[in-house]
Amino acid sequence: MDQRVTDTGLAFVLNGQAVNITPVPGERLSETLRERLGARDVKIGCNAGDCGACTVLIDGETVCACLVPTHQAEGCRVETLSGLVATDQTAQRLVQTFQDHGAAQCGICTPGMMVCAVALLRDNPTPDVAAVQDALGGVLCRCTGYRKIIDAVIATPAAPVGTIGVGASIRRLDGLEKVTGTEAFGDDVAPAGTLEIRVIRSPYARAAFALGDIAGWQAARGGIKAVLTAADVPGLNAFGVIPAFRDQPVFAENLARFRGEAVAAVVGTPEAIRDLNPDDFPVVWTPLDAISTVAEAQAKDAPQLHDERQNNLMCKGFVACGDAQAALAAADVVVEGRFSTGFVEHAYIEPEAGFAQIVNGRIEIHACTQAPVMDLEAMELILGMDRSKIRIIPTAVGGGFGSKLDISVQPYLALGALKTGQPVRITYSRTESMQSTTKRHPSEIHLRIGAMRDGLISGFAFSGEFNTGAYASWGPTVANRVPVHASGPYRIADYWAEAKAIHTNCPPSGAFRGFGVPQSSIAQESLFDELADTLGMDALEFRILNALEDHVPTVCGQVFAQGVGIKACLEALRPAWANEGAAADAFNASATGSLRRGVGLAAGWYGCGNTSLPNPSIIKAGVRADGTLVLHQGAMDIGQGANTVISQIFMTALGVQSTTLERIGPDTDLTPDAGKTSASRQTFVSGNAARLCGDALRAAILRAVNAPSDAEVSIADGDIYVKDSSTTHRIALAGLPVDADGYVFAAVEQYDPPTKPLDKNGQGAPYAQFGYAAHLAVVEVDTALGTVRAVKFVAAHDVGRAINPMLVEGQIQGGIAQGLGMALMEDYLPGRTENLHDYLIPTMGDIPPIESIIVEVPDAHGPYGAKGLGEHVLIPTAPALLNAIKRACGVRLYSVPAIPSKLSAALHGDANG
Ligand code: FES
Repeated sequence: MDQRVTDTGLAFVLNGQAVNITPVPGERLSETLRERLGARDVKIGCNAGDCGACTVLIDGETVCACLVPTHQAEGCRVETLSGLVATDQTAQRLVQTFQDHGAAQCGICTPGMMVCAVALLRDNPTPDVAAVQDALGGVLCRCTGYRKIIDAVIATPAAPVGTIGVGASIRRLDGLEKVTGTEAFGDDVAPAGTLEIRVIRSPYARAAFALGDIAGWQAARGGIKAVLTAADVPGLNAFGVIPAFRDQPVFAENLARFRGEAVAAVVGTPEAIRDLNPDDFPVVWTPLDAISTVAEAQAKDAPQLHDERQNNLMCKGFVACGDAQAALAAADVVVEGRFSTGFVEHAYIEPEAGFAQIVNGRIEIHACTQAPVMDLEAMELILGMDRSKIRIIPTAVGGGFGSKLDISVQPYLALGALKTGQPVRITYSRTESMQSTTKRHPSEIHLRIGAMRDGLISGFAFSGEFNTGAYASWGPTVANRVPVHASGPYRIADYWAEAKAIHTNCPPSGAFRGFGVPQSSIAQESLFDELADTLGMDALEFRILNALEDHVPTVCGQVFAQGVGIKACLEALRPAWANEGAAADAFNASATGSLRRGVGLAAGWYGCGNTSLPNPSIIKAGVRADGTLVLHQGAMDIGQGANTVISQIFMTALGVQSTTLERIGPDTDLTPDAGKTSASRQTFVSGNAARLCGDALRAAILRAVNAPSDAEVSIADGDIYVKDSSTTHRIALAGLPVDADGYVFAAVEQYDPPTKPLDKNGQGAPYAQFGYAAHLAVVEVDTALGTVRAVKFVAAHDVGRAINPMLVEGQIQGGIAQGLGMALMEDYLPGRTENLHDYLIPTMGDIPPIESIIVEVPDAHGPYGAKGLGEHVLIPTAPALLNAIKRACGVRLYSVPAIPSKLSAALHGDANG
């Protein structure tokens, strides 16, 4: 006990400094640390002790600061990550090992992880994996799959680091901020004391409502500065990521279509917002019958969510080639199944948050986003304001996975700042985030697949209904992507696939890593195993036999002359398939209890970038007169590593080895549009723009001295040197004219993938490239309890060219963790699992060792052959697990998640839920 309470408040020691404050009774320590003491390295993910992001040390013990009333810290020693990094050698070592292993992706969980690791290593300097899992198990990470965090804490040797060029496992260029707690996320950028916003939301899935005497309500309350409703939206009271489907109101008018829909927002002082009881807000609700499933939505007399969309059908996607029904009729064997999946929540650890202010008559919005230029376009319409008056400055993003492609807090921030004339901030609560933002589409899929005795597929008929919730979001994209991908990466000549997106009174379903393909893959890959078994064929060899190859048309009739890597992925699994299969057989042969092991396989593919639509990225670069090399990199890095990978590609193209690179991150005033971080497009599309930009900048430099294309370029001491076979040219930069950006050399280049539209049968060229994957999962099923434990994964991914192998592995591991969650535990139920203790995501103890096999079948369109990876990494995971469960215990599950009650019911002969 170092300090005593004083007359003016309470005292404790924060990171070695005595502090004295007067908190509000009951205030959380996390709030005090962040808002009163500036310790924004303490991150808040849930305010309920579920995620562990806010972990600090109190007198050396780890605690969730959100669960500790500040008064309990009286006289204590409180340490946060930033303080530890400043003084503690163990923390300083972790700063290095976390970067060496790529253990921080988005970085929002990293302070909590590292604080727990410091506490562990103080007690046990040489922990094993189990000890790390035990000590860090209370901190959730949604990005990494945990294995690299374990490696970093144990400090296993890291991969050797190369130069900055393509192929090198360099550290993240933005990694230091993440491991020192200085990264600024959406809730970290507003000054303390800024006006706050609280959104008033519908407590009903469907309800008519009438607003009451708002002016009177406001006048009766001190500190309320404004109330925002639909009447305050100067432009279009609607938004949506697809222009033809802008159907979601900023504020609902008269009718709420899902639980959690915004009807108003209150702007006030932090104290007024803290004391606000939303139940007091003057609104009268009239609950109405709501529909929650696609079956209910299509029933006769079902309420219609949108008048213009009959039978609640938002849209359909369709692909057909050959004659699926005739081929199925002629097939030697046919298998069939009905599959269902539920809502899956993105569960990023950073809830949506941001800050807005008016600067020189322009509105500036700082918020977490995956798509700054799309945000700009949406705000231009909502505000009815020319885009030159709006600036989007993204904060760091603490996980997105698709949901932060849609706007969330941005309109409230802008409208609040404009109405009050003052800076405003907002941070969604965990429950608010889970209620109101997009989810993975639930699906109901009917699939029939036929095959001949020789194992070749003969006929494939797929019908999928996707619950798209109350508003469109990315539902049209899901409906269009699924039929293109439902075949999996296989040669299927006779194919019919239809996907429907259907409205219900549920939260909007949107983009979530894979855009519906993980759902269709569960059906297709499960039935591939059933087909192989029915034919008496090996499941891996069956897939290899039917795998796509160069020059073989896809179901869309697209023929790739090169770059089709699925066979290579499947073949890479042969050793593990044999070894793990034999090990599982041996385990089961000697098993005496209820545990049984099984090994499952699945493959997947994913088209990178938009489907048959323009999809450009622009990258700009320049050299200042002092020799500083600058990259304007507008592609959002949401943890996947775009900042690093795009820089590696640019530097390789430029051919400059020995200089530092100044990166200007996404900002609609400063960086050209690099498109959205979505659809596994940034390495491919923005990477290509960076390659072209590097090429162009290099060409400009070489032209200045008439040097040949193979000359060496270097930058040193404020000058550029160009060395060719005969001489070394010096370009004295200081004397050169500068452009409007202050550059003496500059380049701006754009890349747009070549695609062709799909015709009415879905025939065309939807993507310039696909990436390919095959996963093997080993599981242990407790046949008495119905529980499933993943024992091991082997994951082969064709990435064309691994620009940064360490980051590739990080993506694979993180994707597998999300796929495991979808397969085994994640079950979002509107109104019931709207927090991180009822909605379970994988913890550190759930993720087994993952062996990554990086396959490189170069793609002619990719930068240096690279293909996208972000979505591919979870597509095969769930079906591989379901196939492993079947091989372990003989039960085929047709719905996920495979929770114990469901598997137990199936094992013991009850209806298979
Ligand atoms: Fe752990 Fe993103 S790195 S949540």
